[in-house]
Amino acid sequence: MTFPKNFMWGAATAAYQIEGASAEDGRGPSIWDTYDHDTRYDSLRKKTNILNKENGEIACDHYHRYKEDVALMKKMGLKAYRFSISWSRILPEGRGKVNEQGIAFYNRLIDELLAAGIEPCVTLFHWDFPQALQDIGGWANPALPDIFAEYVRVAVERFSDRVSYWMTLNEPQCHIVIGHIDGECAPKLRVTDRQAFQLIHNLLKAHGKAVKVIREYAKKKPFVGMAPNPSAFYPATDNKEDIAAAGKAAFACKERNFWCSALWLDPVFKGEYPKDVVEVFGDDFPKEMIAPGDMELISQPLDFLGCNFYTGQEIQCGSDGEPQRTPHHLGADLTAFKWEVTPRILRYMPEFIYERYRVPIIITENGASMADWVSLDGKVHDPLRIDFLQRYLLELEKAIDAGIPILGYFAWSLLDNYEWSNGYTERFGLIHVDYTTQKRTLKDSALWYKAVIKSCGKAI
Ligand code: NOJ
Repeated sequence: MTFPKNFMWGAATAAYQIEGASAEDGRGPSIWDTYDHDTRYDSLRKKTNILNKENGEIACDHYHRYKEDVALMKKMGLKAYRFSISWSRILPEGRGKVNEQGIAFYNRLIDELLAAGIEPCVTLFHWDFPQALQDIGGWANPALPDIFAEYVRVAVERFSDRVSYWMTLNEPQCHIVIGHIDGECAPKLRVTDRQAFQLIHNLLKAHGKAVKVIREYAKKKPFVGMAPNPSAFYPATDNKEDIAAAGKAAFACKERNFWCSALWLDPVFKGEYPKDVVEVFGDDFPKEMIAPGDMELISQPLDFLGCNFYTGQEIQCGSDGEPQRTPHHLGADLTAFKWEVTPRILRYMPEFIYERYRVPIIITENGASMADWVSLDGKVHDPLRIDFLQRYLLELEKAIDAGIPILGYFAWSLLDNYEWSNGYTERFGLIHVDYTTQKRTLKDSALWYKAVIKSCGKAI
């Protein structure tokens, strides 16, 4: 059997995308509340911040319906559930006074999961940065790593008697590049390249401090990781040359590109910024930001690397021996979001990452948004999502067969939810949510996934 018996079959969500109750029980606002409450038409970008001026005030109302949601997870046979803690729900100001009602909510959720036999896996930061901290400069403020560590300590002290799996940051790349460089997400900033490096460095230091705090204060042996979204590449064929070219493309930085995976992962696993990044950015790479001890702090040993993978680029070996993008696939298979379906990234990215960093891997997100609705028969038929998941899992199986240590797979997402700037238009869930009634309906894919879990992969 390829998938090991203890494989973590899971599904994932994030606090701001599902909880709602955004101003309830003492929760403080995050930058996403600020961003989606600004419903003005942005004439520069020719749109409103969120499509249809939607917001996360209610979302899936999971804050009140968590019991029903855990019951559905149990029905699906999930072994693990990845969710994030809303920082400003437990520390409304981002630091200082603890909001006991926020703590109580996560206690209830964790207890409910454990009673259902589901492993709770916690993401500490999934983009909903406390507004009060943005007001003091956000990640640019040199005090932020310590402030983040203070928050992490609260979470660990309160929940680690029952939680073992911890992820520090979710997709820090998106948070910085889309939110701070492109200005296309909260906090909607457009910083310079030099400033961007300072943000990244601070965020990575915050990650390092968090890892130390988790190890120091955890009440039971913690498994600590991060959940970035490495840019994904895959070879056009299984020829040695194409595979090597794709592997090279996966970490190279040939032009100013903040998405370059090595920029984020080399500091964490090798304790250094990649040479090509430093060269390409020249004077805009502020070497002086690196104080003595910083790189040791950032490169704390991790137990696993979580990877969020959706779509990737196909690479072949060019006639000069260098990686080359293959021509655009005419009429390529696309999800509703218009993301190309590229299952081979799950065969090759874990291998490329493992070769470079030698760390066990968990697929912390993978899935597809599709145009789903409740049919006249009351069911939600989503054959394309099933086909998508099937294709990706079959490739993941090949990576496991090739000997790459892959510990788990989390479908994104458990529920249809608030897809950030796209509001509620993109449906990624295994469970359909009717946002006017909050009725949940298991999609066909949820039932299919249940059979996959039950057979430990045989029913893929
Ligand atoms: C990445 C993010 O972590 C998650 O919040 C988002 O909804 C999904 N991918 C889909 O875009």
